[in-house]
Amino acid sequence: MRPGAAVAFHDLAPKLESFRDAVLDGLSRTPKRIPCRFLYDERGSDLFEAICDTPEYYPTRTEMTILRKHARDMARLIGPDATLIEYGSGAGQKVKLLLRALDRPFAYAGIEVSREILLRATDDLSLDWPKLQVVAICADFLTPISLPASLRRGAGRRVAFFPGSSIGNFTPAEATRFLQQCRTMVGPGGGMLIGVDLKKDEGRLDAAYNDKAGVTAAFTLNLLDRINRELGADFAVGRFAHHAKYQPEVGRVAIHIRSLADQMVTVAGRRFNFAEGEGIHTEDSWKYAVGEFQDLARDAGYRPIACWTDAGELFSVHYLAA
Ligand code: AVI
Repeated sequence: MRPGAAVAFHDLAPKLESFRDAVLDGLSRTPKRIPCRFLYDERGSDLFEAICDTPEYYPTRTEMTILRKHARDMARLIGPDATLIEYGSGAGQKVKLLLRALDRPFAYAGIEVSREILLRATDDLSLDWPKLQVVAICADFLTPISLPASLRRGAGRRVAFFPGSSIGNFTPAEATRFLQQCRTMVGPGGGMLIGVDLKKDEGRLDAAYNDKAGVTAAFTLNLLDRINRELGADFAVGRFAHHAKYQPEVGRVAIHIRSLADQMVTVAGRRFNFAEGEGIHTEDSWKYAVGEFQDLARDAGYRPIACWTDAGELFSVHYLAA
């Protein structure tokens, strides 16, 4: 931590066994699958930041444009003395746009599973906003988290901030459950500011998840490197490939690691067979029209208050009242 920074750190990070158990369980299933949260080790998180800079991956840039343009309206809805709780806070660039517009923000808590990135980002925020109470919570945001008492003392609203369309990496049923969990956490009078990627033409989506420089492929395949490194496995990574395809009939991009040959891999002493063309499902990225997402939010008990989109209708940011 740099001198001058004062960040309260809460370590609720999942243990190594949960990665091992999830991988062994996921590779034993038909079809094989590994939850997408395991894509974000330190290298995976760095690669995800690099994806955000690829020319094809429009969500990050577009959401930043929306936040820049409408931060004042968002701040007006959030109100003074607010406590912001950011899920999957990553490098923390987006929240700065919001903090600049807010009236006397009281506290900020970043919840992020990648410890290094979390500490870097919260340390940085606390230097830029010395009067803001900054809390770093290293946790998988799917586990319900009870907020430290210090965050409950603010006079203003508690607002969950969930940018980046990470909600799209849940199934709609999981998304509803997650939104309900956030609603309980912010309490009556609280709110949620959430970024949601919009449905659009197939070509644009396929390009966004298959960038020409191969950064997304490296991000997906890093999961195999991580399994090799942390679980003593022997994946020959060059014999697997990244595969991402938009499925317009369901409204999601489905991402798999495809085996390029019939092969056998040993993970933590257990053997797994792969047929040529067989996949490990690693991620889905669901896309929602504005009305579809508002319906989902209503199902989770919120009242949709406002929605901002860009001129190209690529991305949306919603403010929901809990
Ligand atoms: C983090 N999440 C919203 C990204 C997405 O667009 O679904 C993850 C991602 N995977 C490949 N590219 C981006």
